[in-house]
Amino acid sequence: MYIHKNRIEIKRKLEAKNIAILRQQIASMPKDKYKITIDDTIKIESNIKENIINLAYLLKPWRKGPFQISNQLINSEWDSSIKYNIIKNHLDIKDKIVADIGCNNGYFMFRMLALNPKKIIGFDPSAHCLCQFDFINHFINSDIKFEILGLQDLSHYDMKFDTILCLGVLYHRTNPIDCLKILKQALKNGGILILDCLIIDSNLPLVLSPLSYAKMKNVYFIPSISALENWLKRAKFSDIEIIATKKTDLEEQRKTEWINGESLESFLDKDNPQKTIEGYQAPKRIYIKAKG
Ligand SMILES: C[S@@+](CC[C@H](N)C(=O)[O-])C[C@H]1O[C@@H](n2cnc3c(N)ncnc32)[C@H](O)[C@@H]1O
Repeated sequence: MYIHKNRIEIKRKLEAKNIAILRQQIASMPKDKYKITIDDTIKIESNIKENIINLAYLLKPWRKGPFQISNQLINSEWDSSIKYNIIKNHLDIKDKIVADIGCNNGYFMFRMLALNPKKIIGFDPSAHCLCQFDFINHFINSDIKFEILGLQDLSHYDMKFDTILCLGVLYHRTNPIDCLKILKQALKNGGILILDCLIIDSNLPLVLSPLSYAKMKNVYFIPSISALENWLKRAKFSDIEIIATKKTDLEEQRKTEWINGESLESFLDKDNPQKTIEGYQAPKRIYIKAKG
């Protein structure tokens, strides 16, 4: 029943007019041999025509990247290489089955191809993200699977994972502890979770619950480090290791011509960039590795 409901929902998303048009254009791109370089910028080289670049423009906003197609840099709002470079030395995924929850357009999944996992499956409920993924994967031609499903659907997914990435998702959920329990269940015994989450500075296990945070209305809970560790313990994760903490800066997130709206510079207090526009601590993240 649940799976059936999902299929109807996915079909509805894919048949939405704006998405169907993009999918049609992506499907009709010519097949060719492309030179692919998987690095901080994911580069695709070939004799690529202007209409492909125009299609990339139609696929705006590009939140994650960067990608480069011929000479055209898709200069995404986020330089996702910064996040990837923080976690990459903790990805022991050769011959492993990996899930990326909230995979967006697949930037991290494409980066992980270089580490030779057995299988990568991305989960993201956004049909727009699927379109960007399909566009890039047209050139890369990987066997990465993209599921238009959310974290909450993992409990009904018929596969368990050696490693799960869940980056930039937890604070968008109204039930973070339940989400961690779902992630734990989706891991094989002893599997590894790589998590990042916004945090607030406090020595106490406190949680900020804003109505709006850095102009995002869909940020529900921002824990302190010890509160997040407690959530992980409640979800029965062990061996909790802090990989890094990092403030978000303008090198990592900024307005580019590849997004339509505002970015970090407009989300911070102009007179005090240590604060968000709402007066909270400016964005800072923790990167965590934990055993399931
Ligand atoms: C802040 S972005 C993070 C993207 C990427 N993981 C990163 O760290 O840069 C959040 C992503 O989660 C996706 N998302 C939204 N709801 C979700 C859900 N219920 N389950 C999984 N992902 C979700 C969004 O479409 C978006 O791509």
